[in-house]
Amino acid sequence: MIRKKAKEVFLSGDGVTREFGYGENKTVAVNNVNFEFRRGEIISIVGESGSGKTTLAKMVLGLLPLTHGRIEFEGKPRDISTQAKRKQYWRNIQAIFQDPFSTFNIFNKVDSVLLDCIQLQGEGHLSAKEKFEKMKDSCSFVNLKFEELSNKYPFELSGGQMQRLMIARIFMLRPKLLIADEPTSMIDACSRATILDMLLKLRDEIDMTIVFITHDIGLAYYISDTVYIMERGVVVERGTADEAILHPKSDYTKRLINDVPKIYEPWDFSNVAC
Ligand SMILES: Nc1ncnc2c1ncn2[C@@H]1O[C@H](COP(=O)(O)OP(=O)(O)O)[C@@H](O)[C@H]1O
Ligand SMILES: [Mg+2]
Repeated sequence: MIRKKAKEVFLSGDGVTREFGYGENKTVAVNNVNFEFRRGEIISIVGESGSGKTTLAKMVLGLLPLTHGRIEFEGKPRDISTQAKRKQYWRNIQAIFQDPFSTFNIFNKVDSVLLDCIQLQGEGHLSAKEKFEKMKDSCSFVNLKFEELSNKYPFELSGGQMQRLMIARIFMLRPKLLIADEPTSMIDACSRATILDMLLKLRDEIDMTIVFITHDIGLAYYISDTVYIMERGVVVERGTADEAILHPKSDYTKRLINDVPKIYEPWDFSNVAC
């Protein structure tokens, strides 16, 4: 069962807006968007290319300032005005991007990638043995063998191993919110199913909220509690997956759905030959 009962709102946005450029060159990439994310909720943000999904994600992550509007974190206005406060915020909010290779510093071996996570968690004081156990656990969560990888550089891993390492990192960091910006669009069906499966398992394990950013409305329907549909910076549809996708109100959503003939077909991981 993917859908669970929603819990309290811990991150919300009110009138979130981002403009780029001035005068005739002004683009309103995200226009007056409101959102509420709950613990353990799976949210999809769906829209065509250029609809403002990544810009919204960057504002949520605190990587891009808002032009207007406000974001509240755990019931208070979000404060990321100093480096220390930003660091604290990023202990709670993490992202994975399309290209796993961009996540890692190429000069860091796998063990130092994972050791960094332990440090970020404020657990630098643990003994070498305890650190080793933690790294081993995170690797076995994603079916990797730490002993085989620890001394390798990221470029020595396969794409699949890299994706798994990215999830092992999230397993260690245990963020409250994970934003996955089209994490599966570049990879084959097998790795895609495995990664989704692992992220869902992680959601169950640590009550993580996941925001999937995708243009795949079929995937959004299958996986989400709540769906936001964006068109040119505006949220034109918002509701449960059933409301937003099976009973859409906006013409834009209806048009997106018409382009996807197989929307009612459930995803079946067991059919994917790996
Ligand atoms: N740094 C930037 N400078 C100027 N325009 C930008 C910048 N980033 C995004 N945009 C514009 O904002 C709009 C939304 O982009 P984006 O958020 O990347 O959309 P999506 O992720 O949905 O494809 C686009 O028109 C894009 O050209
Ligand atoms: Mg994007």
